[in-house]
Amino acid sequence: MRRRIRLPAALLCAVAALAAVTGCDGGVNGSPGASGLRDPYFPKLGNGGYDVGHYDLDLSYDPDSRRLSGTAEITATARQDLSAFNLDLKGLTVDKVTVDGAEAAASRAGYELTVRPHDELPKGRTFHATVRYDGEPLTITDADGSQEGWLRTADGALGLGEPTGSMAWFPGNHHPSDKATYDIRVTVPSGVQAVSNGELKRRQPSSDGRHTAYEWRVRQPMASYLATVAIGRYTTRSYTTPSGLPVRVAVDRTVHDADRVLDRIPDVMAWETKTFGPYPFDSTGAVVERPGDVSYALETQNRPVFPGAPDLSTLVHELAHQWYGDSVTPESWRDMWLNEGFATYAEWLWAEDHGGDSAQRTFDKLAKRPASDAVWSFPPAEPPNAAHISDAPVYERGAMVLHQVRRTIGDAKFFALLRSWPADHEYGNADTADFTAYVEKRNPGKGEALAGVWESWLYGNGKPDPAS
Ligand code: TRP
Ligand code: ZN
Repeated sequence: MRRRIRLPAALLCAVAALAAVTGCDGGVNGSPGASGLRDPYFPKLGNGGYDVGHYDLDLSYDPDSRRLSGTAEITATARQDLSAFNLDLKGLTVDKVTVDGAEAAASRAGYELTVRPHDELPKGRTFHATVRYDGEPLTITDADGSQEGWLRTADGALGLGEPTGSMAWFPGNHHPSDKATYDIRVTVPSGVQAVSNGELKRRQPSSDGRHTAYEWRVRQPMASYLATVAIGRYTTRSYTTPSGLPVRVAVDRTVHDADRVLDRIPDVMAWETKTFGPYPFDSTGAVVERPGDVSYALETQNRPVFPGAPDLSTLVHELAHQWYGDSVTPESWRDMWLNEGFATYAEWLWAEDHGGDSAQRTFDKLAKRPASDAVWSFPPAEPPNAAHISDAPVYERGAMVLHQVRRTIGDAKFFALLRSWPADHEYGNADTADFTAYVEKRNPGKGEALAGVWESWLYGNGKPDPAS
């Protein structure tokens, strides 16, 4: 799902027909969609030629055999006359692929699954591709050593996808620029539960009582790296905040110290809504796994995942991502600082508003670090390679960029910006140039000072002059 507006193909074809131009006759001139979207860090991630609008995932998982079997039905729209298109899928066995009900030829190379539909797809056509697959899903180790994809946990499994792991558990257009809505149905042996994004629509035991299907629905667009399924034995709690927002938390049954901080979710949501603007989704919550099951927190949509009980600051961070990252999503993996800079700055602001250090003091402490410190090792807008997209410059120095923007435009303009940036890009994507242009446009007269901030803090190598 893309938010950018395009002329409907039918209209283009009508215009072409008037001009006696051919090529709108059902796609006889179709060509294969690109096998990657040329992301600066992961060039083969995602695919060209179509936009996904909706994923309907029907998954079954058995923790004992570790087998996942699934059917993914992908509703997508062709953006060109398509003779073939790719999906990203790593590992697993593909059993059958259909397009609009007709069996389609499928071939695999690396993580590219190439689908050649029986009939070509004309530009503008919305089509349904189904992929039936199964196998033991892979755990992916990233360039920075962290693990994602499908993680086996002490009592089940956890599907995570930043930046590339979702392809280990469902086929799709796995690039943050193609967001879609989701239905995620997970069938598990009764006795374990399945938690996912969005809202739980139904929980249905099989007639023999041996399995239970959990049906989750994500009604707002979601980037595939924010999809999750958590399978295991959880203590779950569902309740509503005073403002009426549904909260659903699932805590691994062996973790006993999480309630105290999770009880703060309504407070954090209230403060973040006041500070960042209306919450963009239909529900919130958290999934807490055992610390040994996963080594980091992740801002999975609606329901961030934590390795054990989070501290309050981490809770603030992951919930802030729901605005910055989940609702307004980076256009490419180069724009990560827009996620992490904002989420880190949210931690600074929370402290500032709750009796801790002011953001200025947090900034000053960082600014005192020597030139050799890791925080200055590269400019936030330009990580050197994929191994560094979650390093300190993306987080702390990204937050420092925002603090310098605040000092340049003043508190009133800055706090308005915190709200309008996610509101104006709600459910969409944005890159660094979109952000700098947006700030400049709303602050005429500050152009020169802002240019200095971008030059030294956002794009500059080495430690910036703290006065710049
Ligand atoms: N986005 C996570 C956070 O800040 C951290 C993280 C987990 C991450 N996996 C990643 C960042 C992969 C970049 C790439 O809460
Ligand atoms: Zn983060």
